[in-house]
Amino acid sequence: MIDVEKIRKEFPILNRQVNKSSLVYFDNGATTQKPRGVINGIVKYYSEQNANIHRGVHTLSREATELYEKARKAVSDFINANDSEIIFTSGTTDSINIVANGLNFPTGSEIIVSQMEHHSNILPWQLSCERNNGKLRVIPINQDGTLQVDRLKELVNDKTRVLALTHVSNTLGVINPVKEIIKEVKKINPNILILIDGAQSVPHMKIDVKDLDCDFFVFSGHKIYAPTGTGVLFIKENVLGKLQMSKTGGGTIKSVTFEKTEYVDGPMRFEAGTPNIEGVLGMADAINFINSLGIKEIAAHEHELLCYAQTMLNGISELEIYANHLNKASVISFNVKNQHPFDVGTLLDKYGIAVRTGHHCTQPLMQFYGIQGTIRASFALYNTKEEIDYFIEKLKKAITMLN
Ligand SMILES: Cc1ncc(COP(=O)(O)O)c(C=O)c1O
Repeated sequence: MIDVEKIRKEFPILNRQVNKSSLVYFDNGATTQKPRGVINGIVKYYSEQNANIHRGVHTLSREATELYEKARKAVSDFINANDSEIIFTSGTTDSINIVANGLNFPTGSEIIVSQMEHHSNILPWQLSCERNNGKLRVIPINQDGTLQVDRLKELVNDKTRVLALTHVSNTLGVINPVKEIIKEVKKINPNILILIDGAQSVPHMKIDVKDLDCDFFVFSGHKIYAPTGTGVLFIKENVLGKLQMSKTGGGTIKSVTFEKTEYVDGPMRFEAGTPNIEGVLGMADAINFINSLGIKEIAAHEHELLCYAQTMLNGISELEIYANHLNKASVISFNVKNQHPFDVGTLLDKYGIAVRTGHHCTQPLMQFYGIQGTIRASFALYNTKEEIDYFIEKLKKAITMLN
């Protein structure tokens, strides 16, 4: 078991008062708070180590380069990849765009996504289809938010080029059986490239990209306690050559003449320009923090919070809960019947409670449920049952006030 009280002391922001109440931060699906180790690491970097990387012979540059490449190793170990398969990006959205812009398909190609995708895993593919006169096909879901996996057989055909699927729904928390899906799809057509959006799974479960056997795996640093503007694009070694560069510039080349440029092989081919160095170092610090606690222990704590909160919410008759089961990451989406989610969210904020309200960048999912938005509570390793009790008390109060 993790020691939550001890962990909470590592997050200075949790001492904050919001509207004269102690902050209760349940918006972790949007972004997580940062531990002292990550914050101090950024200060240390700028106080003692700041230099541009990869191109300098002086001591500071060599030290910064070493730290940056050590961070790549921390990330690759974290998801069981090789260092040469890790590209640093500015986040999940950037990673998906790099893949969608870097793959060229014949006219009429098809790309499969699902009904529950975040807009970031729809729009780059929609643009790709527009470029190729292709077709976006959609895996439907059931009323409980689970994917209709058996429909994949009808959707996959010899025109399918990519399956781009979220591992965990950011709105519902539903966990998709991606390993089984990848196996099944590769059996039907081994040439289909598979991208897994891990933005919401990496914070909550052990990821092993070798075991998953996906071609691309993407996630954001800021959802795993690291700074914003950091992200990861894992590309399987034998797929790297299939991806064209959509951005080039300093750091990507072996030699340049006006007639011809030779590019480096490996991940740096896709890391044009000066990167977010302190952010990447912060991501390594965040990963070390997670590793020091153990992702399995974190997951167990978060699951306990999910079960506790969902049971309590189920006791409130005025609520409509979406994906009302427990095969989920620690996310609960619900609505107060006949009330706008913004009104409920605004009242909760008056008591210092931060939840997300709206469509969560999943408008097609909202269209499926025929709603404008939901209230989403998403828990992280520093949240407690006492906070859930307080949230339930204030939610009941808000419902009374609104009715
Ligand atoms: C499932 C999923 N995909 C993609 C994104 C986009 O992430 P970012 O804004 O960090 O690029 C998010 C962010 O909430 C997400 O939850």
